[in-house]
Amino acid sequence: QKLDLELAAIEKNGFDHFMLKEIFEQPQTIFDSLRGRLDGGQQTITLSGVDKIADKLMAANRIIIVACGTSWHAGLLAEYVIEELCRINVEVEYASEFRYRNPIITDKDVIIAISQSGETADTLVAIETAKKQGATIFGLVNVVGSSIARLSDAGAYTHAGPEIGVASTKAFTAQLAVLYLIALKVAKVKNTITDDLYSVLVTDLVKVPEHVQQILETQDQNIREIAAKYTDARDFLYLGRGYNFPIALEGALKLKEISYIHAEGYPAAEMKHGPIALVDEHLPVVFVATKDSYHEKIVSNIQEIKARKGKVVAVVSEGDNTVTSLTDDVMVVPLVHEIIAPILSVVPLQLLSYYIGVNRGLDVDKPRNLAKSVTVE
Ligand code: G6P
Repeated sequence: QKLDLELAAIEKNGFDHFMLKEIFEQPQTIFDSLRGRLDGGQQTITLSGVDKIADKLMAANRIIIVACGTSWHAGLLAEYVIEELCRINVEVEYASEFRYRNPIITDKDVIIAISQSGETADTLVAIETAKKQGATIFGLVNVVGSSIARLSDAGAYTHAGPEIGVASTKAFTAQLAVLYLIALKVAKVKNTITDDLYSVLVTDLVKVPEHVQQILETQDQNIREIAAKYTDARDFLYLGRGYNFPIALEGALKLKEISYIHAEGYPAAEMKHGPIALVDEHLPVVFVATKDSYHEKIVSNIQEIKARKGKVVAVVSEGDNTVTSLTDDVMVVPLVHEIIAPILSVVPLQLLSYYIGVNRGLDVDKPRNLAKSVTVE
């Protein structure tokens, strides 16, 4: 018993929980997922899995992304990024829905299956079904040699290392890092991206590990204090637009998994069609409000919440005094291109959930009723 406890402490490397350790590992795990693939100096991207199915990808009618849970959120962001940069039609599907609804699949479809474990039953069956119908399967998987990796025609591993915390953190940012690489590589080959934009995005991507490090160093204490204020909230709303919408969904999912507080993620403008009815002085609303093309729109959404006495916590870009002056609390991330910003914005939200869960005395590494890998339906 004593030995087990000591071993667990060593594995946590001085952190109180695996989840916190894994959040803090992200500068390294994102770096590992980019290493050997992204050459910032030459501005080249090497991904042998993409080369292997390059013909299929270039000729693809569409890309269908299948995944579950947090991996599905990575897929949703990938839809926005791939459509913008590569001009290929992308659909994102919950694997469980896709496998049962007799979808139309042809040999001109490329399926990207995203899975940390590589063993999620619904995702596995979804790609088996699509493969039988002639689609090409690309696996984006963390666990080497897992079932989804073996069933795929080609793929790329995320190099996040073993993820022990049930709620996914470092696997998610590693997925985003590799999805960005795929999008940039395909866009470059298809010539659907300008040289300038390619260069800006590559430069920002190279800097993601150091930017995540900066967030962890400068925001940890601030986020602990914010978490203390909202520990007893009953509900939370998470709002974001565009590239930050999937991050609002992921922030809400993280909070409900870890703290058992009911949380909903919504596209910021869509709140008028429902969630705004819940807003009063007791409702914290988290805005993912980093600087982007829709910035004024999100500012006016924040004003709408404030006018109804809601509490606003915002993830903002460094130097954004407008949002800071409007909100109750801010979590600051470095200013980068709007396409790259989501991989930074999610980090404060992971910490917020973690500290709220800990404050509520919960087992954040093993939340009740959840499994790390859902291998049954
Ligand atoms: C479970 C885990 C989540 C994970 C999801 C998909 O629900 O608790 O953290 O996002 O499965 O898992 P996968 O291994 O396919 O990414």
